[in-house]
Amino acid sequence: MLKRIAVMTSGGDSPGMNAATRAVVRTAIHSGVEVCGIRNGYKGMLEGDIFDMNTRSVSDIIQRGGTILGTARSKEFQTEEGRAKGYEMLKSRGIEGLVVIGGDGSLRGAQAFSEEQPISVVGLPGTIDNDIWGMDYTIGSDTAANTIVDAINKLRDTASAHQRIAILEVMGRSCGWLALISGLAGGAEYILVPEEHYDIDQMCDEITQMYAQSRHRYVLIIVAEGAGSGVELGDIIQMKTGIDTRASVLGHIQRGGSPSVQDRVYASLLGEEATLALISGVSNVVFSRNNGSPVSVNLHDAITRKKTLKAELLHMAKVLS
Ligand code: F6P
Repeated sequence: MLKRIAVMTSGGDSPGMNAATRAVVRTAIHSGVEVCGIRNGYKGMLEGDIFDMNTRSVSDIIQRGGTILGTARSKEFQTEEGRAKGYEMLKSRGIEGLVVIGGDGSLRGAQAFSEEQPISVVGLPGTIDNDIWGMDYTIGSDTAANTIVDAINKLRDTASAHQRIAILEVMGRSCGWLALISGLAGGAEYILVPEEHYDIDQMCDEITQMYAQSRHRYVLIIVAEGAGSGVELGDIIQMKTGIDTRASVLGHIQRGGSPSVQDRVYASLLGEEATLALISGVSNVVFSRNNGSPVSVNLHDAITRKKTLKAELLHMAKVLS
């Protein structure tokens, strides 16, 4: 059994990272294991920015977005030399195991670290993108989707008032999950995701018909950033249809905010599961949920295999539009 572990957050922050950190720290202490925090992800690890944590260190954070540990993206840790240096930093502080909370880039670093160095490493999927293979949940994705739906509701008001086409570009990197789920929940007419081909000419013809037949007062289009630029799409659609079109890019607002109930509870459950596994000797695994059931996915699979969108959600988007 491990005696001393560390926790860090890395890559883009996501709501619920604090709840996960809290669960890791309190589970470790409850199990009689010492726990350290690493500030600012792998960058902080390389700088030795590491401190002891106790139950009070994680008081009053379950409701907070962002991450109290800070986060960063580190180029140096992407090299073997960088990872060897990171290991020396942890070893000199007696750290035998590490919990990495982050997205695919961070888990990629975790996987290389655990393969190359004699240290146990487990991952928690912290990203709004929900783009990690082997699981249908990542910490922060639910809060981000709710933030987008809130923006959609507001866009509907003004689009309807002016009879405009409203386009909302949302995050997700090369994955369309956020666009799909929020577009479905927000009742969008079109949801454009990188996983599916779309025909812009056909879409413009359909929209022209909708307006001509007064079937719609306005049209709402959600576009995933990986499927193209919302602003450029807006210019093309306005030119082709002649209908007043406005594009909004929601940007980093999607990453902030107090985590939803689901993100708080799942982050807490996953934080506990990952910590108990780590201290009992498990390594190279990322913990999450799939169809409501706990899953532990090999880190290599999680970062190398490509997640696909659920066919029934893509189908529903077409049926309901
Ligand atoms: O991976 C999370 C994410 O928010 C993506 O959706 C987005 O493409 C990217 O991070 C933005 O990164 P940054 O905060 O570095 O601009």
